[in-house]
Amino acid sequence: MSSQKNNLMYELEAYLNVEHQAGKHTVYQKIARSVLNVIRDPRIQTAVRYEEERFDYIKKFVSLNDASVIDIGCNLGYFAFSSLEEGAQQVTCYEGYKYHAEFVEKAAILTDVQEKLIVKAEYYDFSVDKMRYDVAFLLNVLHHVGDDYGDKNTTCDNAKKLIAQQINNMATIAQTLVFQLGFNWRGDKKLPLFAKGLKDEVIDFVSQVTQQCWEIKAIGIAVKNSMGRIEYRELDDNNRCREDTLGEFLNRPLFIMERKD
Ligand SMILES: C[S@@+](CC[C@H](N)C(=O)[O-])C[C@H]1O[C@@H](n2cnc3c(N)ncnc32)[C@H](O)[C@@H]1O
Repeated sequence: MSSQKNNLMYELEAYLNVEHQAGKHTVYQKIARSVLNVIRDPRIQTAVRYEEERFDYIKKFVSLNDASVIDIGCNLGYFAFSSLEEGAQQVTCYEGYKYHAEFVEKAAILTDVQEKLIVKAEYYDFSVDKMRYDVAFLLNVLHHVGDDYGDKNTTCDNAKKLIAQQINNMATIAQTLVFQLGFNWRGDKKLPLFAKGLKDEVIDFVSQVTQQCWEIKAIGIAVKNSMGRIEYRELDDNNRCREDTLGEFLNRPLFIMERKD
C-alpha cells in the first residue's frame, strides 16, 4: 500500500474511533464491505441500521449493474459503496455532515473508486437538481426537513407537505426511488408525523401523495425470521401491523418506486 493510502487508512480509522457517538447521525451506518476490507482496526465500532438486510431486499427489485445512482444523505456510504460493488457505473453522494462526506471521499480514494463515486459535501436541495439518475436512494432523510436541512421555522404540519413535495421532486431526476421515512419529525417522539405510529399510516401517506408521480413496486417490511434474524419481506397481512418489540426504525416500511411516465 502506498504511503498516501496508508495515511488515509489511519485517518479513516482515527475518524471512526473519535466520532463514534459524537452526534445525532454520527457513524449511523455499518461500513460497506469494500471499505471494511481496507480498514484493519478491529476496535472500530459503528452503529448498525440493518443496512445489509435493507440492501438484500432492495437488490431483489432494483438492478444496479451499470446504473447511475444518487444517494441523498449517504452517511458513511454503505449504499453508495455497495451499489458500486453491485456494478453501478457511477454514484453521486450528497451528505450535509461534513465529516461523513470527508469519510466517504477518503474511503473512495482508498478503495480506488474515486472516478466513480462523486461526493457532494452539502445538504441536497430538492428543488434545483437537473441531473438524471437510474436509481435514487432517499433513506431516512425527509423527516429531518426543517432540522438538518431546509427552513428551521417549518412547523410539523408543513414538514409533511414538504416531505410530499420532495418525494415527488425526485421523479424529475430518477427512474427508481428507494425510500424510507421516520415516524417522527426530526426523530423526536414528541413530534409524530403519523398519529398512531402505524406502518399503514406511512403507506397510505406515501401512496396518496405520490400517486401522480410514482408507482409503488414493492414495500419491504422488517420481520424476525425463524433464526431470530431480521430480514425484509414483502408487505402482507401478517407483517403490516406495528411491531413494538422491533423498535421504531424496523417499523419503517421500505418503498421501491418506479417513476410514472
Ligand atoms: C438518519 S441518517 C440516514 C442515513 C442513510 N440514508 C440510511 O438510511 O442508512 C440521515 C443522514 O442524512 C444526512 N442528511 C440529512 N439531510 C440531508 C440532505 N438534505 N442532504 C444531504 N444529507 C442529508 C445526515 O447528515 C445523515 O447523515
